[in-house]
Amino acid sequence: MKVLVVGSGGREHAIAAAVSRSKLVSRIFCAPGNAGMASIAECVPLKDTDVSGLLAFAKAEGIDLTVVGPESSLSAGIVDAFRAEGLRIFGHTAAATRIESSKEFAKQLMLKYGVPTAAYRAFSDYEEALAYVSGRPFPAVLKYDGLAAGKGVVIAKDIAEAREALASMLLDHSFGAGRVVVEDYLEGPEFSFMCFVDGQRVMPMPLAQDHKRALDGDEGPNTGGMGAYTGLPFISSDERDFAFREIMCRTAGAMVAEGCPLSGVLYGGLMKTADGIKVIEFNARFGDPETEVVLPLLESDIVPVFSAFASGEAVEPPVWSNDVSIGVVLASRGYPGKYGKGYEIGIPEERLRAGGVELYHMGTALRDGKFVTAGGRVIMPVCRGKSLAEARERVYEAARSIDCSELRFRSDIARQAL
Ligand code: AMP
Ligand code: GLY
Repeated sequence: MKVLVVGSGGREHAIAAAVSRSKLVSRIFCAPGNAGMASIAECVPLKDTDVSGLLAFAKAEGIDLTVVGPESSLSAGIVDAFRAEGLRIFGHTAAATRIESSKEFAKQLMLKYGVPTAAYRAFSDYEEALAYVSGRPFPAVLKYDGLAAGKGVVIAKDIAEAREALASMLLDHSFGAGRVVVEDYLEGPEFSFMCFVDGQRVMPMPLAQDHKRALDGDEGPNTGGMGAYTGLPFISSDERDFAFREIMCRTAGAMVAEGCPLSGVLYGGLMKTADGIKVIEFNARFGDPETEVVLPLLESDIVPVFSAFASGEAVEPPVWSNDVSIGVVLASRGYPGKYGKGYEIGIPEERLRAGGVELYHMGTALRDGKFVTAGGRVIMPVCRGKSLAEARERVYEAARSIDCSELRFRSDIARQAL
């Protein structure tokens, strides 16, 4: 088979690496890919949102299966366009991708079908929003849900902070004209549950935990994710089964009932609260950096799963190792704020390979045959092992052995799990 992976980050590198272990695959293409992926795939200079360009390439090259990484490609309708031409593609339609792209769609769905999540209401009127917030416990979570969204999540401690945030969002239109979703505040550890979903069919992957803040001790600004691990000690198998049944399977069924069935990865951003496991958000794709720690645990061939979920055919569930895994993101100094690019990275490749380290490129480029930094999150070593403590030792040794004074990393990935 010829397989095309759409995207250019560490997530897509991990997907391409898993595909490259398949005996069914003869050639792998990545669009646009990155410098690290170029060692296992042929990079095609097409943007991940260039749907017509990607479609023309897949047809001309005779691609048998396309696997989509980023949400932007799904929202742009890549799956709808490929399927309309009879091409096999793994990912959700644009209609199903709304479970990620519209907070209000996701919230309405969860309430209608009884999927546990924080109580919520959406408002466009300041007085109504304020009256609702006044009647709910504090802190209150206020999420701007308009076109200019992004930095629009405020956790208000009291009515004064809520009034100020609501006035800014709904009277001053600081983010533009749009609605505000008001949610009850939930507390507890967050974790990520990714499942392969096709209609009502749901196959789980191992649970993972991301570390979103830039600095040790969960300090500093939010980032795309600074590291992840599997083997979460704080989720029992009963809790996992509950999340599988009552959140992931129930949501898959709800999307079928709503006429927009899922056909890719459903990512549950979940929280373990005193009142049970609840949904913070859904994503319609593999998580990044969770994918980089989860896919190395595959013991079976992933390509038949992608292929069958793309076409509705039957397939055996993937087989996962009982090992755990951990990955540490090396990011450019300054990220998620301003940072420089083009700094040379010394990678002791042979030593890493000998130590069983997988190395996923997130934002690198090649210059004169050497890797240089080319993004905020740059490179991610991942180790798997029987215990987190042991895998953690090795992954930090690998992180320290990568030579670039412009790269930094958190030193406490998975510390709370030890
Ligand atoms: P979101 O943009 O919805 O993913 O929210 C960003 C972050 O805000 C989440 O990862 C949580 O840490 C936090 N957050 C969002 N919603 C809530 C909530 N209802 N209660 C507590 N924290 C929340
Ligand atoms: N790791 C969070 C995300 O992929 O959205």
